[in-house]
Amino acid sequence: MKDELIKHARQVLSDNDRGTYTVPTHGLYPFQWNWDSALSALGFAHFDEPRAWTEIDTLMAHQWDDGMVPHIIFHEEDDGYFPGPDVWGTGRPVPTSGITQPPVAGFAVRRIHDRATDKALATQKAKALLPKIHAWHQWFYRCRDPQGTGLIALLHPWESGRDNSVDWDDAFERVPTDGVGDFVRRDTSHANPAHRPTDEQYKRYIWLVQTFRSLRWDNTRLHDASPFRIVDPGFNAILIRSCQDVADLAGRLGMSDIASEARAMADKGIAAMDSLWSDALGQYQCYDRAAGRPVDSASIGGILAAFAPIPKERAAALATRIEKLAKACNYLVPSHDPTAPEFDGLRYWRGPVWLIVNYMIADGLERAGQVAMAERILADSVRLIEKSGFAEYHHPITAEPCGGAHFTWTAAMVIEIFSTCEVPA
Ligand code: GLC
Repeated sequence: MKDELIKHARQVLSDNDRGTYTVPTHGLYPFQWNWDSALSALGFAHFDEPRAWTEIDTLMAHQWDDGMVPHIIFHEEDDGYFPGPDVWGTGRPVPTSGITQPPVAGFAVRRIHDRATDKALATQKAKALLPKIHAWHQWFYRCRDPQGTGLIALLHPWESGRDNSVDWDDAFERVPTDGVGDFVRRDTSHANPAHRPTDEQYKRYIWLVQTFRSLRWDNTRLHDASPFRIVDPGFNAILIRSCQDVADLAGRLGMSDIASEARAMADKGIAAMDSLWSDALGQYQCYDRAAGRPVDSASIGGILAAFAPIPKERAAALATRIEKLAKACNYLVPSHDPTAPEFDGLRYWRGPVWLIVNYMIADGLERAGQVAMAERILADSVRLIEKSGFAEYHHPITAEPCGGAHFTWTAAMVIEIFSTCEVPA
């Protein structure tokens, strides 16, 4: 079974491979997505290290001058996706979106470097990539944390990677829809509309894009101008972990300035993160910076915080929290608490299980000594794929495959999990 699944996963990766980048899946997502690429590189690295490095090289080649790395790179024209380059209007030579996504590339580079069999190639690639990734991390703290709190804010739900999470609902109410003309969504022609965000949400997504565009994508202005400013513990955890990994690897490669700056950013971030802990929920929670109050929402963002080097007792509390969630579903970890009224097991980030998030939570829990829970999460991940295939996401109770099929990062995670962890299959 294990060999069959790995073979199938490699097939998914090669079918979605466009030479220098990978599409998340044919049809629904026809371009390069930021954190998809970084995580997919982990899968490639097990059978083609040069190809893994190329994936991250291509992503970082489209970094903006201010350090930002965009969430989509529109390498080719394809009118099967909305909103395309004409809506974003970022004026880049190869069109890109104007917002970013979880900066997991720093973590991926360190992990691929650590495990590389071709150390010369790995060191050459890492030495070229680390300054760019470090500049991206500095951009976050400069442009998305202008008050220097140690925590960065997201300005668009799509930046979080958890597009329609319940976490954004209240803040999203403040985002107007006036001036948003008619448009035709393309996602719902590739995937079941019941698995996707609603039309109302889509209008607000587009309002934010149009507003940022009217500010010419000037990142020194966007933070204060946006009515949507949310501090997400999961996103900050990924940033902190990547800063830490950049610091470690840069230190080993003799890049001492980067190492010390990155270490300072990680230390500051981890200290600030504790302000997001909620005793009532038993996990971290988002903070609505525009409204000045915490977001009372039991989503996976507050559990993904485990990916950062949080204190051991917090990791233990998160493992207890996941135990509780396990009583309400059959497959860990649901993207929203199944006992909460907003839970929707089919709809994207409002309930379904996502393998990439499982992988990062398990990785963090294992590092913090929560090995049994980490193994349980990975075992559930494998059971899901065995039962329902390489879908974009799955229902946490029925295992129903949702969203797009033949999905790149789901396949990459299967290769990664089988190749590096002891899971039954
Ligand atoms: C969706 C997901 C996002 C992902 C993208 C491509 O927008 O919410 O996290 O990067 O699809 O797979």
